[in-house]
Amino acid sequence: MQPKLKQQKMGNPILLLLFIIFFPFPSHGQKLCHPSDVRALLKIKAALNNPSAMSSWNGTTDCCTLYAILYCDPTTNRVNNLIINNDPRIDGRTIPSAISQLNYLTSIIIFHTGLVGSIPPSFANLKYLQELYLYGNRLSGPIPEFLSRMQSLTTLRLIDNGFSGTIPASLSDLRNLSYLTLHSNKLTGTIPDSFGNFSTQLQVLELEDNRLSGEVPRSLGNLDSLTEIHLQNNEFTGDASFLFGTNKSAGEIYLGNNAFEFNFSDVGIPSGLWGLDISRNKIFGSIPEGLATLTGLVVLNVSDNDLCGEIPQAGKLQTFNNSAYRKNKCLCGNPLPPCPKS
Ligand SMILES: *[C@@H]1O[C@H](CO)[C@@H](O)[C@H](O)[C@H]1NC(C)=O
Ligand SMILES: *[C@@H]1O[C@H](CO)[C@@H](O)[C@H](O)[C@H]1NC(C)=O
Ligand SMILES: *[C@@H]1O[C@H](CO)[C@@H](O)[C@H](O)[C@H]1NC(C)=O
Ligand SMILES: *[C@@H]1O[C@H](CO)[C@@H](O)[C@H](O)[C@H]1NC(C)=O
Ligand SMILES: *[C@@H]1O[C@H](CO)[C@@H](O)[C@H](O)[C@H]1NC(C)=O
Ligand SMILES: *[C@@H]1O[C@H](CO)[C@@H](O)[C@H](O)[C@H]1NC(C)=O
Ligand SMILES: *[C@@H]1O[C@H](CO)[C@@H](O)[C@H](O)[C@H]1NC(C)=O
Repeated sequence: MQPKLKQQKMGNPILLLLFIIFFPFPSHGQKLCHPSDVRALLKIKAALNNPSAMSSWNGTTDCCTLYAILYCDPTTNRVNNLIINNDPRIDGRTIPSAISQLNYLTSIIIFHTGLVGSIPPSFANLKYLQELYLYGNRLSGPIPEFLSRMQSLTTLRLIDNGFSGTIPASLSDLRNLSYLTLHSNKLTGTIPDSFGNFSTQLQVLELEDNRLSGEVPRSLGNLDSLTEIHLQNNEFTGDASFLFGTNKSAGEIYLGNNAFEFNFSDVGIPSGLWGLDISRNKIFGSIPEGLATLTGLVVLNVSDNDLCGEIPQAGKLQTFNNSAYRKNKCLCGNPLPPCPKS
C-alpha cells in the first residue's frame, strides 16, 4: 500500500509539470500566425472599431481561423488575403494603414462598407499584392500615383466609390495588369496616351460611369488582346473606330452615351464580339456587314445615332427589337420600317 501511494504522490507533480509546460500553448501541434501578422491584425482591429468579424479574436488564438475575413498560406501560415465587408461598426472609419504591415498579402478586398478617405500610401510597400479590389465604399480623393509602383498587381478594381481627379498615366507601368476597372466614380480628364503601352496582359478596361472627356487616344487601338472595353456614360468625343478590328480579341465594346462621332460603315468586326453598345452618340455611316456574320452576338444597341441605310437582314441582327435601332438618321429595314424603294 505504502509504496503505491507514494508513487501516486510522486506522479502528480510530474503531471502538473507537464501541464504547466504544455497547457499555456493551446496551439500545440498547430501553427500560429506570424507574430508580425498578429501585431498588424490587432492594429487593424482597433482602427476598425473592433468589427464583428474580429471581435472575439484577441491575438491569442490562430489568426488564420478568422476564415470569413482572411486566408493564410498553408505552408508559411502568413496572411495572404484580407476581406473587409459591410459592418456598421466601421462606417466612417478610414482604411487602416496597418494593413500594409501584413507583408505577404496578395489580395485585399474591401466591399460594401462605409469606409471613407483615400488609399493609404503605405500600401505601396505591399510588394506581393496582386489584387486590390475596393468596391462600393465611400472612398474618395485621387487614384494615387504610387499604385504604379506595385508591380505585382494583376487586378486593380476601384469601383463604385467617390474617386475623383484624373487617371494617372503611370498606371500603364503595371506590366502584369490584366484587369483595370475604375468604373462608377467621379473621374475627370482624358484617358492617358500611355494606356496604349499596356502589355498584352491587359484584358479588361472598364472606365464607364465617370466624367471622362476628350478624345480616346489612338494608342488604345494597339491593345489587340483586350477582351472588354467599357467607356459608356462619359463625355468622350471624336473617333473610336480604331477600337474595332477584325483581328482584335474584343468580346464586349460598350461606348454608349458619349459624343463619339465617326463613320461606322467600314469598322472591322472582331469575330468573338458578343456585346456591342454604341447607343446615344453621333456615329454615322451604315451598319457594317461584319455584324451579320457574328454567331454569338447577344447584346446590340446602335440606337440614337446618325446611322443610315438598310440593317443587314442576316445573322442575329433580327433577334433584337426596334429599340436597339431606333432614333437614327435614316436606318431602315426589319425590325425598323422597310427602306424606301429607290
Ligand atoms: C483572449 O481570449 C481568450 C479566449 O477567448 C481568453 O481566454 C483570454 O483570456 C483572452 N486574453 C486576453 C489578454 O484578453
Ligand atoms: C509578372 O508575371 C510573371 C508571369 O506570371 C511573373 O513571373 C512575375 O513574377 C510577375 N511580376 C511581378 C512583379 O509579380
Ligand atoms: C510608350 O512606351 C514607349 C517605349 O517604352 C515610350 O517610348 C513612350 O514614351 C511611351 N508612351 C507614352 C505615351 O507613355
Ligand atoms: C491585325 O490586322 C492588321 C491589319 O489589318 C495587321 O497589320 C496586324 O498584323 C494584324 N495582327 C494580327 C495579330 O494578326
Ligand atoms: C462612310 O464610309 C463609307 C464607306 O467608306 C462611305 O461610302 C460613306 O460615304 C461614309 N459616310 C460619310 C457620311 O462620310
Ligand atoms: C426590346 O428588347 C429589350 C432588350 O431585350 C427589352 O428590354 C424590351 O422590353 C423589348 N421591347 C419590346 C417592345 O419588345
Ligand atoms: C438601347 O439604348 C436606348 C438608349 O439608351 C434604350 O432606350 C433602349 O432600351 C436600348 N435597347 C436595347 C435593346 O438595349
